[in-house]
Amino acid sequence: MNSKLFTPVTIGPLTLRNRTIRSAAFESMCPGNKPSEQLLDYHRSVAAGGVGMTTVAYAAVTRSGLSFDRQLWMRPEIVPGLRRLTDAVHAEGAAASIQLGHCGNMSHKSICGCMPVGASSGFNLYSPTFVRGLRADELPEMARAYGHAVNLARESGFDAVEVHAGHGYLISQFLSPSTNHRKDEFGGSLENRMRFMDMVMDEVMKAAGNDMAVLVKMNMRDGFRGGMELDESLQVAQRLQQSGAHALVLSGGFVSKAPMYVMRGEMPIRTMTHYMDCWWLKYGVRMVGKWMIPTVPFKEGYFLEDALKFRKALTMPLVYVGGLVARQKIDEVLDCGFEAVQMGRALLNEPGFVNRMKAEENARCSCRHSNYCIARMYSIDMACHQRLKEELPPCLKKEIERIESRG
Ligand SMILES: Cc1cc2nc3c(=O)[nH]c(=O)nc-3n(C[C@H](O)[C@H](O)[C@H](O)COP(=O)(O)O)c2cc1C
Ligand code: SF4
Repeated sequence: MNSKLFTPVTIGPLTLRNRTIRSAAFESMCPGNKPSEQLLDYHRSVAAGGVGMTTVAYAAVTRSGLSFDRQLWMRPEIVPGLRRLTDAVHAEGAAASIQLGHCGNMSHKSICGCMPVGASSGFNLYSPTFVRGLRADELPEMARAYGHAVNLARESGFDAVEVHAGHGYLISQFLSPSTNHRKDEFGGSLENRMRFMDMVMDEVMKAAGNDMAVLVKMNMRDGFRGGMELDESLQVAQRLQQSGAHALVLSGGFVSKAPMYVMRGEMPIRTMTHYMDCWWLKYGVRMVGKWMIPTVPFKEGYFLEDALKFRKALTMPLVYVGGLVARQKIDEVLDCGFEAVQMGRALLNEPGFVNRMKAEENARCSCRHSNYCIARMYSIDMACHQRLKEELPPCLKKEIERIESRG
């Protein structure tokens, strides 16, 4: 069969030059919560490397939505910096998207400036912090913040936005029965748990008008007992289809309960704690990290089996993400009816991977899912250990080699 990979694809008002998208993978390159030269350079390199579209990760729609101090916070003063980034991406022939979200209970007062808010009150061990459940009368304003962020994205020159409705962030905290214990019209039945997402999508689609593409990243499963499963997430996807969203990105996992379900493999705990400044967090995570971040085995294309069930049930464009490191698997996924694929780690490992796939039918990048990039992202920035200028300290080298040798 002829490969679809290098044929154009249409997502709402947007046509991409090919079917590859750099997934939203938090760069941790935004000190002061604003874009930097480093962020621009990375996205330019991926665009020059051939992707159809690159996605700037994880921009918070309000200050309360920040979970890192090197994360974007959407506000008018960062528009000129983002404009320079989108101009650079466009000059390389790629489109630009930005992921919009709110981390909900995954923050800390020192970062988000207030007691973290979520679907329900409680304690989040992963931050660690107490959390205040949002009042129903606060939700319309929160939903409007997503719409404002879409307008800022347009002013900044983005072609698309990706609403983050998965991975245990705010919308996902409302959807999941494990984090939504509300007794009002936003909790209980799935219909009620989808109500906040519906409000957000109304605002987003209104703001997007007819010139911005809207993708939504959602969970097929939360990845732990008591979380959302396929029966409910298929209904969520149907609802998003009705909302007019132009494409869904099908993912899974929950940062505060099943983080490795998102990316698979093992988290290099020694590496993660090596870069941490806070001594008590460093030693705490070293002691209980293995228990808090359990390994989930990696398999190439690990979400494909679940994603195929969504392909059968929906007519809208679907984007596959999860464990793509080789051209052959990408062709297989596209032949299954997905309109496009996203890659995270393959493009951290090799920003020019898409161009190489054009030339080599058997191209495979050399990412071996050590997850060093994630462990480093928490404290410094997102980078692949294979591309670092500096030598890794021997203890980290040993840990990464051990993880990679397990395959
Ligand atoms: C360093 C790193 C940071 C990530 N940050 C985000 C993020 O901000 N938002 C998000 O939706 N997914 C995030 N992810 C998940 C990826 O977008 C993607 O869903 C996942 O890594 C699976 O794709 P892959 O196997 O191609 O890497 C991150 C992944 C990595 C490796
Ligand atoms: S650090 Fe490891 S997981 Fe991340 S891109 Fe590099 S090889 Fe892949």
